[in-house]
Amino acid sequence: MAHSTTRVLHVDAAEPAAEPIAEAAAVLRRGGLVAFPTETVYGLGANAFDAEAVARIYAAKGRPASNPLIVHLATGADLPQVAVDVPPLAYELATRFWPGALTLVLPRHQQVPPSVAAGGLSVAVRVPSHPVAQALIAAAGVPVAAPSANSFTRPSPTSAAHVLEDLDGRIEVVLDGGATPIGVESTVLSLLGTVPEILRPGGVPIELLRDLVPELRYEPRYLAMEDGAAPSPGMLLRHYSPRATVLLFDGLPAAALAAMRHEAASQIRAGQRVGVLVPNEDQAHFDGLAVAVAVLGPRDDHAQIAAHLFDGLRALDRAGADVILVRSVGRGGLALAIWDRLLRATEGRVISV
Ligand code: TXA
Ligand code: MG
Repeated sequence: MAHSTTRVLHVDAAEPAAEPIAEAAAVLRRGGLVAFPTETVYGLGANAFDAEAVARIYAAKGRPASNPLIVHLATGADLPQVAVDVPPLAYELATRFWPGALTLVLPRHQQVPPSVAAGGLSVAVRVPSHPVAQALIAAAGVPVAAPSANSFTRPSPTSAAHVLEDLDGRIEVVLDGGATPIGVESTVLSLLGTVPEILRPGGVPIELLRDLVPELRYEPRYLAMEDGAAPSPGMLLRHYSPRATVLLFDGLPAAALAAMRHEAASQIRAGQRVGVLVPNEDQAHFDGLAVAVAVLGPRDDHAQIAAHLFDGLRALDRAGADVILVRSVGRGGLALAIWDRLLRATEGRVISV
């Protein structure tokens, strides 16, 4: 499979034509791999009931078998096919947030192969809202296991071009439906314990979930790669890393920007190629310095910033940056997911100002 070519099938994001969808669905049904857009990021899909197809996902990504996959359904009505002992709260959350960027961790149905769940007894499930994902899963007629369609440790892909950067020649088909609107992955919520627990902040803000689940727990735990005790392997610290070293500045904007400019100048003097990843309004602060700039969108528009985050990291990598300077935009709402992904990209290199 490594020597085959990857076919790119273009689809309209709002109204995907039946023909490319049917072609991609046929690939899934015969055990192949299809990358497809969701509202969060591109997924790398395989038939979730086919253990051999699922094994191909891990191989294509270079993903450790210890990191479980999310199963995608066309509708919440299919939940009993993949999960058992589904608590009433799961249905309440599904009614409110599906289709959408919320993944629920539930007890696994035995017809889902253990490899989907990295051998565990649970399964992560969501119903994506993107019309292409919806059409593909419905046409395949099976649940679709899909991690983000990047190589292990690379930033998640938000365009078909990103998928090809990492996986060209390793998968059969990419459905190219343009850029993914949210740009960060789904919120992962475990319903296994007595208290519901956020395992990964994401596209659905925790504040919205707390409206329905006031007792919701979230304890950020960023563990080293080799730590087998991770409750969700998505908590691996080194998980969204570009090739460059990333430095994250945390503090009030003016102070953070001054510290970033100072750091950029000293890195340049040391012979490093510097990239900065900043909101639009910050760009002018780096005038006169030989830095590559990627802009994220308006400073207060966290939806735009999330949507451009991974593309910005990849763009600065392609520009040859040795070091990438970024700053925090807060922790509330969608900014928590942005903070989480940046923290992982930095592998803990946070500079408080
Ligand atoms: O938005 C998304 O969630 C995207 C799109 C394609 O749906 N998918 C995605 O998949 O981000 P992936 O594999 O990159 O991240 C899945 C996350 C990981 O943090 C993983 O550890 C966690 O979900 N997860 C999956 N199954 C789990 C399980 N059974 N128990 C606990 N965590 C689980
Ligand atoms: Mg991923």
